[in-house]
Amino acid sequence: MKVLIFDEAEQAVARVADLVADLVRRKPDAVLGLATGGTMVPLYERLVALHQEAGPSFAGVTSFNLDEYVGLAAEHPCSYHSYMRSVLFDRIDFDLARTHLPRGDSADPMREADRYEAAIAAAGGIDLQLLGIGQNGHIGFNEPTSSLASRTRIKTLTDDTRRANQRYFDSFEDTPRFALTMGVATILESRFCLLLATGRSKADAVAAMVEGPVAAACPASALQLHRNATVVLDRDAASSLRLTSYYQHVHPGGADSAFG
Ligand code: GLP
Repeated sequence: MKVLIFDEAEQAVARVADLVADLVRRKPDAVLGLATGGTMVPLYERLVALHQEAGPSFAGVTSFNLDEYVGLAAEHPCSYHSYMRSVLFDRIDFDLARTHLPRGDSADPMREADRYEAAIAAAGGIDLQLLGIGQNGHIGFNEPTSSLASRTRIKTLTDDTRRANQRYFDSFEDTPRFALTMGVATILESRFCLLLATGRSKADAVAAMVEGPVAAACPASALQLHRNATVVLDRDAASSLRLTSYYQHVHPGGADSAFG
């Protein structure tokens, strides 16, 4: 696992945006796995800015989002469909027909999960999967104790996760209880995993992910099993790590190196 630590969140965001943009320049028909959440908002802003400055074009990109709330139609203002359109898809040249999220309002969510998994495979798998991390170590909506072999399915959200996301809804009661999410194994199959975490509230989850045991209690720790995973952090999100001086020695100031 590469651990890149930057002093400021904006620098971490800029690095992740550059990695995404570089891939799309090299492979204009790349398959991107996309994430939602507050952490991703400045990242998508930066990608929009990069696109406007000098490209790249996203017109040939196919995308699959990690998750969607069960029960919310795409048009619902709090759906992840709506989030993606407002922060990214409608702001640059994405071809909406190539963008995919699980259908939260499907009459048969379990079949929808299987369909989604098959669609990812039919697209040739994911080249780059963007990830955030929940304060409890979730990736996508794979809550603690999610099977590390899990595929796209319905997960019951923890009350902590519902409280963290309550700000987007009218009340805690209105915050969905279930989500359709790619599984941990689905995520691990992507060819490159790129996780962005900023802020002190993520510090303990980041430490468990990077330096804790591989355990379903912290689903993000499964990234330790991935051959090509990069974790990009700001100083605050890195503040509970123990081996910081080693990460900074290998990647001074967040610089990449030929060796991991
Ligand atoms: C959400 C999403 C995750 C996201 C995480 C952190 O619930 N399902 O994909 O990474 O929680 O969100 P934030 O960036 O708002 O802290």
